[in-house]
Amino acid sequence: MKLFDRFVVGLLPAVPRKLVWRFSRPYVAGESLDDALRAVQTLNARGAKATLDLLGESITRREEAEAARDAYLDMLERIARTSLDTNVSLKLTQLGLKLDAKFCLDNVRAVVDAAARRRNFVRIDMEDSSCTDATLTVFRALQRDHDNVGIVLQAYLRRSLDDARELGRIKANVRLCKGIYVEAEAIAYKQSDEIRASYMAIVEELFKAGSYLGVATHDDVLAERTWELAQKLKLTPQQYEFQMLYGVRPGLGQSLLGRGARLRVYVPYGRQWYPYCMRRLRENPAVAGYVLKNLFVR
Ligand code: FDA
Repeated sequence: MKLFDRFVVGLLPAVPRKLVWRFSRPYVAGESLDDALRAVQTLNARGAKATLDLLGESITRREEAEAARDAYLDMLERIARTSLDTNVSLKLTQLGLKLDAKFCLDNVRAVVDAAARRRNFVRIDMEDSSCTDATLTVFRALQRDHDNVGIVLQAYLRRSLDDARELGRIKANVRLCKGIYVEAEAIAYKQSDEIRASYMAIVEELFKAGSYLGVATHDDVLAERTWELAQKLKLTPQQYEFQMLYGVRPGLGQSLLGRGARLRVYVPYGRQWYPYCMRRLRENPAVAGYVLKNLFVR
């Protein structure tokens, strides 16, 4: 990150929530499940699938994890009552991973069971590297008796190609992203060309293993390379999908749909939008700079 960008990002916590909300609005479907379902309806009408994410990561009490589990159960019930094309994504720390791994597994199992009864699917997001092993362990425990659960790999982690080899062996359903957390150089690639090389090595590994892959990126280069590789391997558009975040580069999404690719949009919603939006703004200092300019220049 450039020095100026680092400066801009450093100032973000001083920005009033109201202003952050105004600039973050494109990235969040709203505060309620109804808002989120309306966003899914619009996406579906444009030909995109969706995955719903209830915002809120850091919990400290078991009751909060149980409340998140119940919110996901309610979400699945509501989706089943509509004809909307959406699955759900969740974070294990929100379901108690840092409190008690067994308690977390039980919570996620309840969600995955409920999804299975409704022929729906649950994606387990990947969080920072302190959670990687525990997240993979929970995923493997569930994957043994459920085919409606998927995991995420982060291409910036040096370990991920090895993880992909393991996951390819069980034909796991994997979302691949670059990775969003700040990690040490000892465990993570830092240069964008290294991250792209790792990303494509994992795409190739999982395509060849026959895994269903969610190619989560807004990077034209990666989207193009993936598309070309899929053509070369004679994969049909039903054998993988592109995934993008709500509000980010909708033009790229439409052009992928126009080629006949599958696209799924990650739709975050909920009252805990603030930390999520700060992450999005940190990722995109150009937008963050705009926020700050509006703070000082009225
Ligand atoms: P890159 O950051 O290079 O962006 C490519 C281009 O997209 C940029 O040049 C810019 O124009 C545009 N862009 C990117 N972000 C933008 C933004 N916020 N606003 C406006 N334009 C923007 N991470 C993780 O660690 N665990 C996870 O479980 C997930 N899950 C996940 C799901 C889905 C569907 C997506 C798309 C992403 C994730 N991520 C994630 C986040 C991911 O790791 C990564 O941080 C972002 O996708 C940004 O990386 P890109 O591949 O898009 O490339």
